[in-house]
Amino acid sequence: MSILVTGGAGYIGSHTLIALIDAGYRCVVVDDLSNGSAEAVRRIEMLTGERIPFYQIDVADPLLLSKVFYDHLITGVIHFAGLKAVGESVEKPIDYYQVNLGTTLNLVRCMAEAGVFKLVFSSSATVYGSEAPVPYVEGYGRGITSNPYGTSKAMIEQVLEDVAKSESRWQISLLRYFNPIGAHSSGVIGEDPQGVPNNLMPFMAQVAVGRRAALQVFGGDYPTPDGTCRRDYLHVMDLAEGHVAALENNHHLGCDAINLGTGSPVSVLEMIHAFESVTNVQIPFTIVDKRAGDLPEFWADASKAKQLLGWQAKRSLEEMMIDTWNWQSKNPDGYR
Ligand code: UFG
Repeated sequence: MSILVTGGAGYIGSHTLIALIDAGYRCVVVDDLSNGSAEAVRRIEMLTGERIPFYQIDVADPLLLSKVFYDHLITGVIHFAGLKAVGESVEKPIDYYQVNLGTTLNLVRCMAEAGVFKLVFSSSATVYGSEAPVPYVEGYGRGITSNPYGTSKAMIEQVLEDVAKSESRWQISLLRYFNPIGAHSSGVIGEDPQGVPNNLMPFMAQVAVGRRAALQVFGGDYPTPDGTCRRDYLHVMDLAEGHVAALENNHHLGCDAINLGTGSPVSVLEMIHAFESVTNVQIPFTIVDKRAGDLPEFWADASKAKQLLGWQAKRSLEEMMIDTWNWQSKNPDGYR
């Protein structure tokens, strides 16, 4: 019996493989490697001593994906595969809707045909939209999203709610991530973005290792305590363990949205200072104009995950920084 992990060669997928194997599961990975690394899966095999069957296929391909369900006895699926760059989604909306919706629709069709009804979906706090009060509470529902990436996540949530209503055996968790950072404590796997990183933590780590000259802090006069944006950063291994908890939650049928965050906001300047004090590496930075579409601050109400899944984030900001630096300093060029 195995768990199918789509997008298992990517950043969150690869860390979730370790959490699943630690919890005693066998895993099967499908990933087209458009933004993931086969090397990540190979390293996890080395680290855990487990063989992980790997299919380099497109999750949207009906024949190839259904073959995976014939080859293995799959009991549950964690679905990460998809496109995830906010800025790129504005340039390429057709790709984002086609890939993110197409993979999900094909996946649930193949699952139903194979009689597999347990699904954990990689959603995002972005579905709350710009008007939601903080902290974000699941019961608020979905707001107006401001880019095709976020809209594709909100659309998929709606699709999966409808799918769950159509057949009573479905157990679907929509996990709304806040800002995952860090790496496995071994330093063997971590975040390896292609090109210029869009996100704060990988950009800062690449500055620290000398790949980039300085960090640009987007905006210094937000209505926040120090004028920079605040986010709810959580350790990627906590997030990974949240997926295992969702998979093991047999209390609900249907479809449920659950926040995965720490419940505490941290500003960009606080992030820089936390990284510097843990690593003793200075991060040169300048405060520049705001980035279009950034919200001043948001963080999770994390109580539903605790109550429903018995999950809460347990790793500190300091550990997030230590593990990021351990990975980046051991692998300055990522998996290359
Ligand atoms: N930031 C900088 N400089 C950088 C990169 C980021 O100052 O070089 C700032 C941003 O302005 C923001 C904060 O750091 O204030 C965090 O930015 P990230 O890009 O790391 O994360 P976001 O909160 O913007 O984005 C995350 C996810 C998206 C998701 C979004 C909303 O990466 O997938 O949250 O939920 F859509």
